Amino acid sequence: MRTIAILAMLAAFLIAPGLARAQGEVVVYCSVLVDWCNLMSQEFTRATGIRVVLTQKGSGETFAQIRAEANNPRGDVWWGGTGDPHLQAAEANLTEEYRSPALPRLHDWAQRQAQQSGFRTVGIYAGALGFTYNTQALARGRMPEPRCWRDLLQPAFRGEVQMSNPPSSGTAYTALATLVQLWGEEEAFNYLRQLHRQINQYTRSGPAPSRNAARGETTVGIMFLHDAVAEAIEGAPLRVVAPCEGTGYEIGSMSIIRGGPNRENARRWYEFALTPAAQALAVRAKSYQIPSHRDAPVPEQAPRLADIRLIDYDFARYGTTAERNRLIQRWEREVGSQPR
Ligand code: G6P
Repeated sequence: MRTIAILAMLAAFLIAPGLARAQGEVVVYCSVLVDWCNLMSQEFTRATGIRVVLTQKGSGETFAQIRAEANNPRGDVWWGGTGDPHLQAAEANLTEEYRSPALPRLHDWAQRQAQQSGFRTVGIYAGALGFTYNTQALARGRMPEPRCWRDLLQPAFRGEVQMSNPPSSGTAYTALATLVQLWGEEEAFNYLRQLHRQINQYTRSGPAPSRNAARGETTVGIMFLHDAVAEAIEGAPLRVVAPCEGTGYEIGSMSIIRGGPNRENARRWYEFALTPAAQALAVRAKSYQIPSHRDAPVPEQAPRLADIRLIDYDFARYGTTAERNRLIQRWEREVGSQPR
């Protein structure tokens, strides 16, 4: 009897700390800039008392991690990053269906993202793709002002352009899918093969080229316009360009990971992240996307989608596993693995 009581006490002692942790935390995989991840986490903890265990990684990398952990999910919620890999996660049944009561208060593009995924993801922000250039480096190198995607192929830009890497970065995949939709696949790959010669580095993360252009480490960077705007506001000599041929955009998304350890807390994060007040935090962390809640303030400095020649980006198609894998593999074979 005494042995059983002692064993029971011992078991309670061993299990209890685990339980307390499980009730009091949420594991967030974050695919936006780290300052925004941190601020969101602090404010969520302040509002709810729930501790946040945070990992920041690009969209493609986070998707790969969630897939690798499918049999033993460690994350609860995937917050931010481009929408295509979130749609792919939905298709692969890695994320959970959830309909927030806030859904009708979101912009149509954010609701459409939810509908297209069978309510396994939702739009939390939007932003257009483009490029930026360092005005000082441009003047020093006597390079012409680039206005269009095609301008980046001019000889003056050899070794002067940076973009991220499609397998790891959702930004780069958006660029790939954008060019395919703009010109057709053959023409787009023809362009990407020529662009390859102009590239000095494919970075792991999407916003890195704008940071490097701000420091003058590359003259041109391809990325989401709001990332370059953030650097320009900090005083970097950058000009931000929405390419003349037209461009694509992202619907930054959020998904609950199926089978994660803290389901209830994941939902609390999800609801918190859809409030206008939480979405307004972005500006404090120097992120200038368009928020998805209709009542969230649009940052004054956010590039306005209405002013940009946007393609009608087919998220349903380019967010499928088949299309995303096929295009990335073709890019690796015909572009990324080739000598420059
Ligand atoms: C930055 C942008 C986000 C975008 C994300 C994608 O953080 O501000 O709008 O969703 O990059 O990151 P990735 O590394 O996947 O391209």
